[in-house]
Amino acid sequence: MAGEVRLGIIGIGNMGSHHVRSMPQVRRCRLTAVCDLVPSKMDWIDGVEKFENSRDLIRSGLVDAVLVATPHYDHTTIGIDALDNGLHLLTEKPISVHKADCERLIAAHRRNPNLKFAAMFNQRTDPHYQRIRRIVRGGELGEIQRTSWIITDWFRSEAYYASGGWRATWAGEGGGVLLNQCPHNLDLFQWICGVPTSVDAKCAFGKYHRIEVEDEVTAYLEYANGATGVFVTSTGEAPGTNRLEIVGDRGKLVYESGRILFERTEVSVKEFRETTPHAFPTVPTWRCEIPANGYGGQHLEIVQNFVDAILDGAELIAPAEEGIHSVEMANAMLLSSWTGRPVEMPLDGALYEAELKKRIETSSFVKAPAKEAVVDMQSSF
Ligand SMILES: NC(=O)c1ccc[n+]([C@@H]2O[C@H](COP(=O)([O-])OP(=O)(O)OC[C@H]3O[C@@H](n4cnc5c(N)ncnc54)[C@H](O)[C@@H]3O)[C@@H](O)[C@H]2O)c1
Repeated sequence: MAGEVRLGIIGIGNMGSHHVRSMPQVRRCRLTAVCDLVPSKMDWIDGVEKFENSRDLIRSGLVDAVLVATPHYDHTTIGIDALDNGLHLLTEKPISVHKADCERLIAAHRRNPNLKFAAMFNQRTDPHYQRIRRIVRGGELGEIQRTSWIITDWFRSEAYYASGGWRATWAGEGGGVLLNQCPHNLDLFQWICGVPTSVDAKCAFGKYHRIEVEDEVTAYLEYANGATGVFVTSTGEAPGTNRLEIVGDRGKLVYESGRILFERTEVSVKEFRETTPHAFPTVPTWRCEIPANGYGGQHLEIVQNFVDAILDGAELIAPAEEGIHSVEMANAMLLSSWTGRPVEMPLDGALYEAELKKRIETSSFVKAPAKEAVVDMQSSF
């Protein structure tokens, strides 16, 4: 590899084009090949080999690694093909549409453990989420009692859903807001607070848009230690909210509007509750504004980290194996909504795959032909 990674990008749509444009900023990495099923998508790219089939790019001998930015179902098939042909893999989120596919992809990496396998969870580079994770995982907040994430600032228009035939269909995308926008939040949620043991959810399908998949979700979560949580999301409301609130035995941490406020109790709340002689006490609390500036390196930082992992063995910011957790949480919310019952985790991946297949086979939804939409990628992350 001689001090440089030769990268191929597969899927030159909104996200893939953004990755191609940012490649000159990635150190020790050279874009040598691109691939899209639609050749005209690659017309504007110069100086690299172009392929209309990922199999040919993967076997071309021109690349050491690939970044897969196709619609989600193909992350699994193309990812497995890349790993089994000796290429390092950076896959867009979600790593797969459902848990069984995640397991197939992860199994391919287990067969090829020397290859780097990373996921584009770019929001893990955001200093706010990094700081919150350190506080929670470092024990500063004490044992978690309650979590709540209202993440409804993923507003999307009809034009967005009409812009790709695959979008917002069971067959093409395998879900809606949970599979497209929320993989970021579900990944961060589990990265910070852990994976719940039970998920009970109500999803609304096509409530705000002419789509067959979910565009609004309210979920109730339970964790192994008895903590409870809620997760609320929507692509249909504006102005949206992004409010993450985590309550622990040492206080309350709230992230909203780019600020982290930690109201830290002087003592353990449990101990205080059990020992104070007062009937209506106030727990003494300090208000701490936690500084965290900027936006983080986002996609570019994830690609650079992938290259550094290949060349120098740097620790991955987002190992793709961890991507199974956000998929499993999304699947559990959908399954719970379909069955009207809480879903115990770990989810039965085969059962979920069968239920999803039923929706694909019985769908009578007819999507209008794809229409070009005005795209501003920066505002879509
Ligand atoms: N990390 C992020 O912030 C972020 C943001 C947007 C999208 N994404 C992810 O990127 C992926 C693509 O989303 P998008 O919005 O760019 O979609 P898009 O429809 O704009 O682009 C997908 C492209 O892939 C091509 N394609 C489809 N199947 C292919 C195949 N088998 N081989 C080669 N090319 C193929 C299509 O022709 C199209 O050009 C999705 O998985 C999405 O979740 C991630």
